[in-house]
Amino acid sequence: MATHLLGLDIGTTGVKGVLIDERGVSVAIAAVEYPLLTPKPNWAEQNPEDWWNATVLVIQRILSDSRAAPSSIKGIGLSGQMHSLVLLDKGHSVLRPAILWCDTRTEQECKWINGTIGRERMRDLVANPALEGFTLPKILWVRNNEPEIYKRIRTVLLPKDYIRFRLTGEVMMDVSDAAGTALFDVAHRRWAVSLLNQLAIASEWCPPVRESIDVCGKVMPKIARITGLEAGTPVVGGGADNTCGAVGTGVVKEGRVLASVGTSGVVFAHTDSMKVEPKMRVHTFCHSVPGAWYVMGVMLMAGGALRWYRDTFGQQEREEAKMRLGDAYDLMTEAASTIPRGSDGLFFLPYLAGERTPHQSAMARGAFIGATIRHTKAHFSRSVLEGITYGMRDSLEIVKSMGLEIQQIRLTGGGAKSKFWRQLQADIYGHEVALVNTSEGPAFGAALLAGVGSGVYRHVLEATENIVRVTESIAPDPTRAAMYSDWYEIYRGLYPALSETYSAIHRRTAGS
Ligand code: XUL
Repeated sequence: MATHLLGLDIGTTGVKGVLIDERGVSVAIAAVEYPLLTPKPNWAEQNPEDWWNATVLVIQRILSDSRAAPSSIKGIGLSGQMHSLVLLDKGHSVLRPAILWCDTRTEQECKWINGTIGRERMRDLVANPALEGFTLPKILWVRNNEPEIYKRIRTVLLPKDYIRFRLTGEVMMDVSDAAGTALFDVAHRRWAVSLLNQLAIASEWCPPVRESIDVCGKVMPKIARITGLEAGTPVVGGGADNTCGAVGTGVVKEGRVLASVGTSGVVFAHTDSMKVEPKMRVHTFCHSVPGAWYVMGVMLMAGGALRWYRDTFGQQEREEAKMRLGDAYDLMTEAASTIPRGSDGLFFLPYLAGERTPHQSAMARGAFIGATIRHTKAHFSRSVLEGITYGMRDSLEIVKSMGLEIQQIRLTGGGAKSKFWRQLQADIYGHEVALVNTSEGPAFGAALLAGVGSGVYRHVLEATENIVRVTESIAPDPTRAAMYSDWYEIYRGLYPALSETYSAIHRRTAGS
């Protein structure tokens, strides 16, 4: 009988599910979207019930599209958006909408934590500073602003763990996701109890933690009836969307780096031992590979900046794309490819939602710099693509400065789809980049983790080395790479030159 594995990614735009066979071939894929709620500027929330309804639909669709026998599914792996806070009361009911990773309301709480606990001590205890996106400041925000809700908290979960609870009835978290809470002792893969005590946050709210490959529960009979799954199907720990994405693209060995341009931009480097950058400009978290860690730079707006540019300035391209049944992004990249490298001195700063790596500033803003009357729309399009890619290089430079050797950069996400952008990445990174044969994203990695947990594979490396293959390598052109290194030096100087201005703008616009 066939063997299948199911991966479910509880993302920011929707749930994506993928069913694979034991050779890693996708048998069915389904996705269901849900809204992102922004009741106030800088706020981003979602209803956990929307995640659950989407999950049920995705499972039902996958089972009907694939016609796979439910009993052929040997395991389920969950992946999810990191950091987003889910609060449950004593009856396990959701207390308020989840506060998402991209919500930046916690500026005051971060200042308070980094001031009271201190960045140094945060580094010793949890390997990371408090940042707006992380879970801990969100818990403190609820304490400061919604005391009635705070009093009723009994459990703190992350999105995929809430789905685990609904599927299996088990309250649990895996180490890769727990690491992103800023309450987790990343070095020892356990809760940072002394930090919890110091902050007077009840450690009982933090669920038991397991490795990503460990079986953490089984599908309950009542859920089997709703979804069509077989009761008793094992559900493994699963992991953060970034670690599952890394597993799914084979970034499970030191020397391998993942460069993912989705809405956000992520540079993910596997490490065999825990490494913390002295200024903590990149995050250090636990990998979904047992006994491994990773460092990660995160740009809040990468593909998201390109989407903003298309939606705000690309009406003509959108209309043309509609007429020609094409894609507005392709038209923009086509035009960009006719412009000289460096966009004739036009630069774009992609900080449309503040920035995490390398600046860790909620005040940073986007900018076009260097425009002259010679610049055309195509120049602007090219500068946007270049600016996003320079931002990714910022993270790569930090990874290199930590002494980590980069042997291979694997590309994924929207940035891997365009030939032009792939070459641009090779040239701007000054490094060979590679494409792999898997493009289903974190859900795929979660399915592989389910395969390890249910005994289909012996370990993560066995799963990935048999399934994930490099299909194309793109070398940088030495002349272009040298030219880009020169432009990049100018790019690097722009944020420091503007940071005072950003503060001045922030003072005048805060709260508006
Ligand atoms: C990582 C981060 C994002 C989310 C997106 O620190 O905040 O990449 O995981 O879902």
